[in-house]
Parts: sequence; C-alpha cells; structure tokens
Amino acid sequence: MPLDQNQWPNDLRAFWLPFTANRQFKKSPRLLVSANRMHYQSSDGRHVLDGTAGLWCCNAGHNSPRIVEAIQKQVESLDYAPAFQMSHPRTFELSNRIIDLAPQGIDHVFFTNSGSESVESALKIAIAYHRARGEGQRTRLIGRERGYHGVNFGGISVGGMVNNRRVYGSLLNGVDHIRDTHIPEKNAFSRGQPKHGAERADDLERLIALHGADTIAALIIEPVAGSTGVLVPPIGYLERIHEICSKHGILLIFDEVICGFGRLGDSFAANYFGLTPDMITCAKGLTNGIIPMGAVLTSSEIHDAFMTGPEHLIELFHGYTYSGNPVACAAGLAALETYRVDGLFERAASLAPYWEEAIHSMKGMNHVIDIRNIGLMGAIELAPRDGLPSQRAFDAFLQAFEKGLLIRVTADVIALSPPLIAEKEDIDTIFSILTEVLQGLD
Ligand SMILES: Cc1ncc(COP(=O)(O)O)c(C=O)c1O
Repeated sequence: MPLDQNQWPNDLRAFWLPFTANRQFKKSPRLLVSANRMHYQSSDGRHVLDGTAGLWCCNAGHNSPRIVEAIQKQVESLDYAPAFQMSHPRTFELSNRIIDLAPQGIDHVFFTNSGSESVESALKIAIAYHRARGEGQRTRLIGRERGYHGVNFGGISVGGMVNNRRVYGSLLNGVDHIRDTHIPEKNAFSRGQPKHGAERADDLERLIALHGADTIAALIIEPVAGSTGVLVPPIGYLERIHEICSKHGILLIFDEVICGFGRLGDSFAANYFGLTPDMITCAKGLTNGIIPMGAVLTSSEIHDAFMTGPEHLIELFHGYTYSGNPVACAAGLAALETYRVDGLFERAASLAPYWEEAIHSMKGMNHVIDIRNIGLMGAIELAPRDGLPSQRAFDAFLQAFEKGLLIRVTADVIALSPPLIAEKEDIDTIFSILTEVLQGLD
C-alpha cells in the first residue's frame, strides 16, 4: 500500500540522518512505513525482506505481538520512574532474566539506553573498579583495530574504525590497540572460525610489555567484530586473549551489542565460545530493538568492589535518566520471553549450517573476494572499484533495496544478519536477490 499523500513528509531539510549519505538520500529517500515479521513495507508500497534484523537488533522479527502488547500495557500503568535513588519492580525482574542467560559468574546488570552508552559505562566501571581496589594507576584502555564500540568518545577511542575517529580530535588519552584478526591471504572463504590468526592475541602481551600490565585497566573487544564487516575470531584466539587478561589482572570486556541475544545461536557469544569475560556490554536485541535500552553485565567481584564505605553514600557516580526505563524494561522482558518461548536461540543454531551453505554459494560471483559467516550472521566482501572505495557495495545496497531486500554495507562489505525467525525460504530469497544484484553490478 503506497503512502497516503498526507503522510509524506513535506520537507526533508531539517532531519540530519545519522551515518547516512544525506544528500544522496534526500534526492531519493528510502522510507519504511510499516513492518511485520520478516518484512518491511516501503513508502512506495513494496515489501522489503529484512536481511539485517533492522540494524542487527530485531532478532524476533518485526511487530512481535507479545512485545507490542507488553509495551502498551506498561505505558498505561507506569510510564516513568526516576532512575536515581528510586526504582520499580521491572528493573529487578529484567536484571534477573538477563543474568539467567549470561555465563555463570556474571551476576549484575547496570542499565543504559544504547550500545554506545553501555561501552562508556563499562570503560568507566573498569577504571573505577581498579581504583576501588587500590590500583588507581590502572587507567589504560586497550581496544582493537577495526573494532566498533559505538560513537561516544570512549567508544571511538578504543574503537578502530578509522572514519569514525579521525575527525574528532585527540580522543581519550592512554588508549592503545591490538591488531584485528582479518588475515584474508590465509583465511579467505573460511566457514565459521578461521584456522589462522590465534597468535594475534599475543599483541596484547606486546602492549603489556610496552606499557606495563599494572597500568592497564581493561581490554574491550567484540567476540565477533560486526560493524566492520563480520570478522570471525580465529580458532583459539579468544581463549588466548582470555588467558592473557586473567594472567595480568586486566579486565576483559566482551562487547556483545551485536552478538548478544541469539545472533550466534546462543544467548551470548561468551556462552557460545565457553568463555566468561569480566563484563559484557549489550543493547539492540535486549528489547528486540523496539525501545532503546542497553546494559553492562558484570561479575560479582566487580560489583562488590564498589559496595564499601558508609551505606548512605552513592557507590558509583554514573547513570542515565532513562536507565531501566519502565517501558524499556517491559519490552526487554517480553523480548526475552519471546526468545525463550519461541526457542529463537536454538532456532538460530539449527539454521546456521543452512545459512553457511547459502552464503558460501556466492563464492565465484562477480567481484566477491571473501565470504565469512558464524551463527546467523555473515559477510560478502567485494573488491572495491579503483579509486572509489565503498561505492560498489553502496550500489549493491541500493539495487538490493530496489529489488526488495534490505542489506547493510560497510566499506565494500555486505553484512547480513536476518531476524532469527527466518525460514529457509527467506534465506533462499536473500541470496537469489543478491545473486541478481551481483550479476548486474559493474
Ligand atoms: C559492538 C557494538 N558496540 C556498540 C555499538 C553501539 O550501539 P548503539 O548504536 O546502540 O549506540 C554497536 C552498534 O552497532 C556495536 O555493534
């Protein structure tokens, strides 16, 4: 159903779109007006298959009735409660449900409103934790090249996506980076975890030798780097990282904003890989993307280190007006219930082999130089056009949308992450449209 004339925005000038080529967009706007399960409907009346779960967040598909109803009910009873020195029952309920899904040893939840805020919160908690234990000199933060940790100053400082950092001044000081794990000359077209590259974890030992372990507060990494184009950790890499962090008392933060809530076929990547970090940052799938919400999950050791001193005093001077917002909590509780009742994490795990076959069937097509996959996520990397990086994949994005498929592109990588409710036929449709797109792409 095409958009009613009255619904069409009369002027596109005021809105400055995030992470968007604004001038291109406004010449030819792509507007979504409704959604249901695996599909969006565009303003010109086309059904668009969602190959990206929105922005890696609508794991239960769109307009999931349980979540919609929970939000409606909540907003009618308690709209907002102050987050500081006050709370409401759902914050506790949701924290407990999240902890039920987290690896053993992760016992506490600090609410935020986005992945970026989760990252800032985790970095601050890491530094404050060491100080609370009498190691106030541990202030250095380590990230990884090609990492994405949101867009705030802490996140872009530890992050490693160059365009997200380079025009923003000097960023945080006392930050360093290990190398990414992308080794296409050895690992191109790997299925699941690549064989080569575990030794890149030893970069952390080099930084420890350079700076001294006793100056380093935390290492933050995405277990699977998502936004940079799905970089799957080589076999043994995360285990080695975990071991080095433990050996040197460096907190390990897994940024699971994308991996969390089923993307790999388990609740968290930490469980998938059988590793317990000290903190997990999450957002997106926590509410199925419907209401902004994020969280930092921590061990008791971290939490308890703050619980000292006179009891009337605030232990952590940090928080947001909307931390644990009642409507977001209701959405979160309903999302987690939907994942459980509908068995969506298990579903993602059982679809993963089919997904792997399907995505690797694109090998040999026009411009394809690498394909990567794990769980229900994957990437198809295209050779860039000479002197015009990103343009070929952007054209693929535009053409796919025209043909009724939403994909995500980052540089010359097509990233895919369908809702976990996808049927095999949806997966087939994704790759048949992409085949057509690549066949016609110069
Ligand atoms: C790993 C990771 N961390 C942080 C973020 C930032 O999340 P948000 O956009 O909700 O601030 C993202 C977003 O994609 C992410 O993938």
